[in-house]
Amino acid sequence: QDAPTAAAVDRYLTDMLVNEDEALRLARESSAETTAPGIEITPAQGAFLALIAQIAGARRVLEFGTLAGYSTIWLARAVGPEGHVVTCELSEQNAAVARRNLERAGVSERVDILVGPALDSARSLAQEGTEPFDLVFVDADKPNNPGYLEQAVQLGRPGTVLIVDNVVRGGAIVDASSEDPNVIGVRALMDALHDDPRIDATALQTVGLKGWDGFSLARIR
Ligand code: DHB
Ligand code: MG
Repeated sequence: QDAPTAAAVDRYLTDMLVNEDEALRLARESSAETTAPGIEITPAQGAFLALIAQIAGARRVLEFGTLAGYSTIWLARAVGPEGHVVTCELSEQNAAVARRNLERAGVSERVDILVGPALDSARSLAQEGTEPFDLVFVDADKPNNPGYLEQAVQLGRPGTVLIVDNVVRGGAIVDASSEDPNVIGVRALMDALHDDPRIDATALQTVGLKGWDGFSLARIR
């Protein structure tokens, strides 16, 4: 018999522990209608994100990168009916898919989708003097990761939790000579975190349904 794979283990753990209702399943599957099919977080990662949000007692969440709104639904449910999620999405096509998914999941009233370049949307939030966010999930275009980190710090407060997706990329991030803009973006993020006295950070590698990747977990001091 073949050795179990990380994907098989992920399926087993997800079957045992993760309650994905029909709205979440349909949202996940609808990523096929977006500009980047199949890159959404896995069910187990969604549950992880929701647990972190709940452990942190997060009421206000900022997300960079909505896509079909799959992670948005996990976060919106985690913050509860009194909570609020602001999610930034470049593409109107993706935002339209996400709106439908948020509606079906029953969380559209606690979510704002800001359509346009996320750096601009976050700058507007800062100019409006928006309340600080308790948790920021960065999962958008990787070359802008350093900019999103800076905005997360500006829009956060001491204790704000930062999570950045896709920081391992099949191991590609150790290649200092990589010309992949995604790798360069993640490495620039690591450079920024490396000597930022405002932030405590770590990163963990992950395996499973999406293969070998990882996320960074950080906290504003
Ligand atoms: C990519 C982006 C993601 O957010 C993801 O989860 C996987 C891959 C990418 O840009 O390659
Ligand atoms: Mg991602």
